[in-house]
Amino acid sequence: MALLEVEHLKIYYFTRQGAVKAVDDISFTLDKDKTLGLIGESGCGKTTMVFALMRFVAPPGRIVAGKIIFEGRDILTISDKEMRRLRGPGIAMVFQSAQNALNPVMTVGKQIVEEILEHESVTKEEAWERARKQLELVGISGDRIKSYPHEFSGGMKQRVMIAIATACNPRLLILDEPVTGLDVIVQRQLLTLLSDLREELHLPIIFITHDLAVVAETCGEVAVMYAGKIVEQASTVSLYKEPAHPYSQALMKSYPSIKGKKGKLRSIPGAPPGLTNPPVGCRFHPRCPYVMDICRQEEPIFKQRDGRLVACHLIK
Ligand SMILES: Nc1ncnc2c1ncn2[C@@H]1O[C@H](COP(=O)(O)OP(=O)(O)O)[C@@H](O)[C@H]1O
Ligand code: SF4
Ligand SMILES: [Mg+2]
Repeated sequence: MALLEVEHLKIYYFTRQGAVKAVDDISFTLDKDKTLGLIGESGCGKTTMVFALMRFVAPPGRIVAGKIIFEGRDILTISDKEMRRLRGPGIAMVFQSAQNALNPVMTVGKQIVEEILEHESVTKEEAWERARKQLELVGISGDRIKSYPHEFSGGMKQRVMIAIATACNPRLLILDEPVTGLDVIVQRQLLTLLSDLREELHLPIIFITHDLAVVAETCGEVAVMYAGKIVEQASTVSLYKEPAHPYSQALMKSYPSIKGKKGKLRSIPGAPPGLTNPPVGCRFHPRCPYVMDICRQEEPIFKQRDGRLVACHLIK
């Protein structure tokens, strides 16, 4: 059984201008012990998608269809109480710009302790001992347990967020752009930490980023999102070697440095569509160099090709 099965998930934001179809019929599965990268341009629905996995979608957003089966149960149908119990030990998440989510008037140790005490019946002493170990796990000296967030750099704060997220040994960890906005050296240190944690804790991870080099290094599988849809899902090795979907190809071309060649970052011609009235047929058709008549009329369905899934009319 897969750890996570997302089936035909639709999440819309109901605004005065109409429904923003941020996640529009997305399906994917994640097996135990796998790391899935979720990539795509800003605004394509990545954060909205993972918010649904924590059941954090709030008005004007609404999950309008679909199932999210985690360990065999549809988390969209369980009670609020059960969902609260699942967050932390079941599914944990480090939010985009998470450093800013730390409570500025509480020591970092206390913030880890609170997370542990909310979910586990351990003594305060045990919780503090665990908090110290968590800090050390993410490469911060246990002596800093009584420090406040403002005494830490951005990279250290991000480590604290990872310490909080992993404090209750989650069975799935979601990281939303965990290294975005940090300088390159700190990014590198954090990526090393994440792969060490993965080895140590055998944690399945969903890793969101718009940086293809980061996915190449951290994820075994990758799903490419475009305008509220997944257009290709494949092993990272095969996707990088031979992207099948024209949007994946364009993304790869925009990152020449992946294959070791230094070059200018090229942007993909055109802009992603608005999600209130996205293009009919294939949503990538206004930007696609291979567009055909059928692409403007019919939405392509997922097809299996060499062990990957691709939604494009070119795939026979
Ligand atoms: N609260 C909101 N109200 C209306 N639209 C929203 C809201 N939050 C996100 N959106 C829209 O949903 C789409 C997907 O956003 P998001 O999930 O944040 O994308 P990503 O994480 O890939 O950048 C975007 O078009 C964004 O403008
Ligand atoms: S379906 Fe058509 S427009 Fe869309 S990516 Fe494939 S070839 Fe391009
Ligand atoms: Mg986002």
